[in-house]
Amino acid sequence: MPFVRACGLSELEEDTPKRVELDGTPVSVVRTEGEVFAIHDICSHANVSLSEGEVEDCQIECWLHGSAFDLRTGKPSGLPATRPVPVYPVKIEGDDVLVSVTQES
Ligand code: FES
Repeated sequence: MPFVRACGLSELEEDTPKRVELDGTPVSVVRTEGEVFAIHDICSHANVSLSEGEVEDCQIECWLHGSAFDLRTGKPSGLPATRPVPVYPVKIEGDDVLVSVTQES
């Protein structure tokens, strides 16, 4: 699956997640600490949009019960979530943020 354009780099505000849909997959795109990350936008604990949560220390926090997921690995740092959330490769080309939603890492 090729990379597809998720949004413009200039549309992303630092530490403010942006929800996009790529081929039917909800993805939260996050610019933080000088990098851009793409993480599945549904918490692994319940059907909650992670993009409505806060970003800190390269983690996105689920607003409902507070599990935080590492934007690099998708792993939760604490309960109640126990399963990781998929993360996706990101490429920046000019002002385009490109994400490949099928190559989970
Ligand atoms: S729904 Fe995300 S931690 Fe419970």
